[in-house]
Amino acid sequence: MDLGFRGDVVDFYHRFRRGYPPTVIDSLAGTLGLTTDDVVVDLGCGTGQLTLPVAERVRSVVAVDPEPDMLLRARRAARDRGVVNVSWMLGTDTDIRTLGALIGDRRLGAVTIGQALHWMDHEELFRAAVPFLRPGGGVAVVTNGTPLWLQNTAWSRVLRGYLEDWLGSKLTGTCGTDEASQRQYRDSLTAAGYDVTVTSVDYIDELSADQIVGGVYSALPVNRLPSPEQRPHFAERLCHVLEPHLPFTERIQVTMLIGRVRRGKQIP
Ligand SMILES: C[S@@+](CC[C@H](N)C(=O)[O-])C[C@H]1O[C@@H](n2cnc3c(N)ncnc32)[C@H](O)[C@@H]1O
Repeated sequence: MDLGFRGDVVDFYHRFRRGYPPTVIDSLAGTLGLTTDDVVVDLGCGTGQLTLPVAERVRSVVAVDPEPDMLLRARRAARDRGVVNVSWMLGTDTDIRTLGALIGDRRLGAVTIGQALHWMDHEELFRAAVPFLRPGGGVAVVTNGTPLWLQNTAWSRVLRGYLEDWLGSKLTGTCGTDEASQRQYRDSLTAAGYDVTVTSVDYIDELSADQIVGGVYSALPVNRLPSPEQRPHFAERLCHVLEPHLPFTERIQVTMLIGRVRRGKQIP
């Protein structure tokens, strides 16, 4: 499947997508008992939003993504931040067994998935990961707020209308952030034998019009991205319709669905 995280979209993703506040990483590391002895697999690493802060807490991270451009940008971000304990791997969630086998007896402290589970076969992934996780370690499913055009604010509704006109289609995908998806993920973790905890970190931020435009570009598949020639017009018209709805306040809820392996679960 071509998701379109390529070309110019990658740089927009890196510049305009939110990272995760330190309290999120504290909570995740605390719940899973992550230490500098742990190896973590970060699936759907993108340009390293979750990978890099997690890498700073553990021995090493294997960061996996099917999009080569995302991996290249992530590698550059790691270098810029002085993070040297990440292996960047072209792959998908279906590589979890191979990765688990590679890591062998050491076993994983965590498999993290930041804002990417909606593209994976979550039931199969949760089941497949169990034997490779150390007791007390687990799977962390992290979301990073509601898409910009689906929020309950006037500016977000105007943005949705503008984008639906531009794209010629309705925008309904929640990227796994809605309650029904979260419930489904929670139930699947429980069914796969994990003890599940749910936590969230909520905060408020104010966006500039440029950040909204950049956030939109970061979320479009590369074949729907306005061309470089179209972008000034696209941005100018969007800013014009948004302006009456200043300030662009965003309530961000980062959710962490953490499934911990019960002590005593053995490698079959
Ligand atoms: C929205 S980005 C999330 C990036 C980052 N983890 C974050 O929290 O912002 C989703 C990423 O998942 C990747 N992805 C899509 N399908 C995947 C799959 N089946 N296995 C692993 N990664 C996948 C995409 O290429 C993209 O880089």
